[in-house]
Amino acid sequence: MKKTLIVFGTRKGTTKETVQIIAEILRTDYNHEVDICESGQIRTYKKRLSEFNNIIIGSSIVSGRWKSQILTFAKKDIFSGKNVAIFVTAGGTLNKVQKYGYTKSEAINEAIQNYIDKYLKKFKFDPISKTAFGGKVIKKGVLKYNSWDKSDIIAWTNDLGIKLSQI
Ligand SMILES: Cc1cc2nc3c(=O)[nH]c(=O)nc-3n(C[C@H](O)[C@H](O)[C@H](O)COP(=O)(O)O)c2cc1C
Repeated sequence: MKKTLIVFGTRKGTTKETVQIIAEILRTDYNHEVDICESGQIRTYKKRLSEFNNIIIGSSIVSGRWKSQILTFAKKDIFSGKNVAIFVTAGGTLNKVQKYGYTKSEAINEAIQNYIDKYLKKFKFDPISKTAFGGKVIKKGVLKYNSWDKSDIIAWTNDLGIKLSQI
């Protein structure tokens, strides 16, 4: 059985919804045992890291920034021998598809460059997969935009599931 830990940080809840979909697919279709660790539980899970073959790290992006506890976790030298995948929830960047007519892959690539690639030198692992998903902005109860797309999450998780079964 593959044991997978998903460590994530959210501000508004979208990243949590994303994580629930990823976990469900990996459990049901790829037979992984999946634990989910929200940013506040990192201290506990850091001690248990040796139990997991695979780590998925996901962060909400607000004002260009990761959730700080998740970035701190990702920079640690604790991932040797593990398969690590990264995603960010970059609602504003993915909304450029609707707003400016970007293709989905242009928007995803821009988010990867801005929010993942710039940290790669600081990470002590080479991610086996990296991507960006959309998100939502609600201000004073009014939905400003919604670039969250469940089908992107399903597609990425299936790619990842297949990759991990081949390792
Ligand atoms: C104040 C604010 C700033 C944001 N800044 C960015 C940004 O710099 N880049 C981006 O791609 N999305 C940005 N977003 C969109 C968020 O990525 C989106 O709200 C996402 O759903 C946040 O993830 P979470 O719901 O898991 O916290 C911003 C949203 C808010 C409310």
